[in-house]
Amino acid sequence: MNELRWSKVDEFLIDTLVEQDEALLAALAANSEANLPAIDVSPNQGKLLHIYARMMGAKRVLEIGTLGGYSTIWLARALPEDGKVITLEYEPRHAEIAAKNIRRAGLESRVTILVGPALESLPKLHSSAPFDLIFIDADKKNNPAYLEWALKYSRKGTVIVGDNVVRDGRITDEADRDEHIAGLREFLQRQGEEQRLTATAIQTVGAKGWDGFSVAIVG
Ligand code: SAH
Ligand code: DHB
Ligand code: MG
Repeated sequence: MNELRWSKVDEFLIDTLVEQDEALLAALAANSEANLPAIDVSPNQGKLLHIYARMMGAKRVLEIGTLGGYSTIWLARALPEDGKVITLEYEPRHAEIAAKNIRRAGLESRVTILVGPALESLPKLHSSAPFDLIFIDADKKNNPAYLEWALKYSRKGTVIVGDNVVRDGRITDEADRDEHIAGLREFLQRQGEEQRLTATAIQTVGAKGWDGFSVAIVG
């Protein structure tokens, strides 16, 4: 019952506030056609990322976890002409579909997709840093390591956003032995302890169930 109402409210919010143009809709359709898991950020979350990027006048964005590039498109559209999103994706097939979706959106000059495990791509990004905004949304077990890289590639004012930090409340279940849940818990704990970060997290409900977004600013 709750889930139904959350979805209904998400539909209302999206219908009322979030216009998705041809390119965004085509990206979701192409992902579904290719049987990619439907774990893109929701349209209202995508627009939230877009607004964050515009609020801070971001020019350089790092995304960890591309999937079909739906969140990438929202982020890239927030940037000036000479802005850049570097997005990291493990699965070559996901990256291929993302590249098509991003090209269809006319954003290929603003987006670079690096294929491979993010932990192998990250050490190669020194010359692209510092990033203004970093969105972490890949394999959650590696989130603590991604946070370390995010800090390394930050400046005062960099914003670090994490997706899926609540996972139906599982992060508070000490008995949960899932490595992704453990990674998410440590990701949040480290953000709380880290002197360089001012961090918070918000629980969310909606069409994707009960989850959360973390947001932190460096400095
Ligand atoms: N940000 C996307 C959704 C990402 S889903 C959106 O909102 O549209 C998570 C993605 O992370 C998947 O495509 C998965 O293949 C990728 N991934 C998983 N492990 C990874 C790793 N070690 N390095 C890079 N990408 C990884
Ligand atoms: C799921 C959702 C996500 O946003 C994600 O990044 C990974 C998995 C899920 O619902 O399973
Ligand atoms: Mg996610």
